[in-house]
Amino acid sequence: MLTTPAQTLRCLKTTYDAKVLPVLIDKACALASINEQRAQIVPKAHGVVLEVGVGSGLNARYYDSQRVERVIGVDPYLQPKAKQRFARAGIDFVSQPLSAETLDLTDHSVDSVVMTFTLCSIPNPTQALREMRRVLKPTGTLYYAEHGLAPQPKIIRKLQHVVTPVWKPVAGGCHLDRDIEQLIAQAGFTVSGQQGFTDSVTIVGYHYWGEATLRHHSDAK
Ligand SMILES: C[S@@+](CC[C@H](N)C(=O)[O-])C[C@H]1O[C@@H](n2cnc3c(N)ncnc32)[C@H](O)[C@@H]1O
Repeated sequence: MLTTPAQTLRCLKTTYDAKVLPVLIDKACALASINEQRAQIVPKAHGVVLEVGVGSGLNARYYDSQRVERVIGVDPYLQPKAKQRFARAGIDFVSQPLSAETLDLTDHSVDSVVMTFTLCSIPNPTQALREMRRVLKPTGTLYYAEHGLAPQPKIIRKLQHVVTPVWKPVAGGCHLDRDIEQLIAQAGFTVSGQQGFTDSVTIVGYHYWGEATLRHHSDAK
């Protein structure tokens, strides 16, 4: 049976997404500048931890096993390596191959949420952050490190907007132009974080990292 060019393209894309992309992401996400940020954020997580977009488990070795009771790793495309990396790190790991927009966890059931280089890829980041808010205990903290929209220089900001539509299909749905701090704050968190170019002035070089706690109705502005 003859295949049409459209069928061939679909087949190539499926193979690329399943076989090539996870390897590329695993390599790109293990760069030194990215690992430096993991090292600043992840060891702070404690108690029952929800890791959103756990991927291949690159954060596993940065958790403090003395502070963490269990890590629940949520990701629709969870990689088998994640289990191995958490096992090697001696951390109790529960995998949930689900989307962050529909978490299968009860309200106020986790102490920490960890999210690294993931909000860019979640199709509905606002809904995912609402879910994180729902499952966090009132005293809980969201620890994040993400890349996103650069306010300056204008040329990079513009490039991020222009390149995103062609970048997204080859980079696992990654948006280059999300204002991470604004998204987190709009979802009802008080953000205490930093932002800036970490490594180089490129379209993926602008990072946001820090902590966010639940903003209670009484402190809402
Ligand atoms: C660039 S990778 C980062 C992986 C990992 N967080 C890290 O720091 O190495 C982005 C991850 O977001 C995950 N992701 C995409 N859509 C998601 C969703 N709706 N809910 C949760 N995770 C999602 C992808 O499967 C992928 O593992």
